[in-house]
Amino acid sequence: MTQVNAPTAGVALTAIGVALIREQESRRPDRLYDDPLASAFVEAARRDFARIEGGAARWERVEAVAEQFFAGRSVGVRLADDRVAEAVAAGCRQLVLLGAGLDTRAYRMGLPAEVTVYELDLPELFAFKEPVLRATEATPTADRRVLPIDLRTDWDHPLREQGFRPDQPTHWIDEGALPYLPPADHLRAVATLTALSAPGSRFALSRFAVDPDAPPYAELRRLVAGDSGGRIPPDAGRPGEQWLVEHGWRTRFRAWDDMIVPLGREVPVHDPAVGVVLAERL
Ligand SMILES: C[S@@+](CC[C@H](N)C(=O)[O-])C[C@H]1O[C@@H](n2cnc3c(N)ncnc32)[C@H](O)[C@@H]1O
Repeated sequence: MTQVNAPTAGVALTAIGVALIREQESRRPDRLYDDPLASAFVEAARRDFARIEGGAARWERVEAVAEQFFAGRSVGVRLADDRVAEAVAAGCRQLVLLGAGLDTRAYRMGLPAEVTVYELDLPELFAFKEPVLRATEATPTADRRVLPIDLRTDWDHPLREQGFRPDQPTHWIDEGALPYLPPADHLRAVATLTALSAPGSRFALSRFAVDPDAPPYAELRRLVAGDSGGRIPPDAGRPGEQWLVEHGWRTRFRAWDDMIVPLGREVPVHDPAVGVVLAERL
């Protein structure tokens, strides 16, 4: 039987969509960042999809959804990159990517070797990502450590076993993984990272105003959960800005429309309540 490593269904599939977005951005003359490894993931995924029944049509659907999310998501990648660069400049030597997907910051951002990048994601994601990375023979500039783990389980101890130091400031990055967890697990994950955050650690919470029934979100859900649907669990019970403040974080809010101005891309949301809560551990 032909081996297929790419996640062709399930939540890990969403990582392929973001790789498609980074690959497209990297090809633009006015690119906001360059991710030379994104094309390796896209090519490997395209080949794997072609090996499954109905895979070519499914791949086209994944490409179409990625295209619909491209403008906003690509800017979001750059904003997250900027926060990483700021954190490193401020002295953070630990980055933890919660639901790292096919992100390659350990390779593409020129991070110093003293920085450790912990990548947490599901085992099926790394079963695809690691062989593709090995085949490219690329080398990370930072110290990259991989944790194949379900964020709904206890990831505190496995992270420490990989060398994570709770007494050192950490920059935590969530670009859309935690909202996939049930609210109680989302809350537990934020409580865990809070307990592991030395003073000066940073975390960001996105504040969205999306209609989950709008066509691109509905199609994404069908691709992830199968054509019967399946939903991202509701917002109630999730940690918000108030929770962070009550648990020892100083927060400030930055509106999306203000953050995108320097990037010169026309993707405003015209809603001053949409943006990012930036948190620093006291
Ligand atoms: C939208 S993707 C974002 C990936 C990456 N941060 C990026 O920007 O390219 C969401 C990621 O969260 C991961 N994820 C979702 N639920 C998870 C869980 N319970 N445990 C670990 N990872 C999870 C998925 O596998 C996927 O890689």
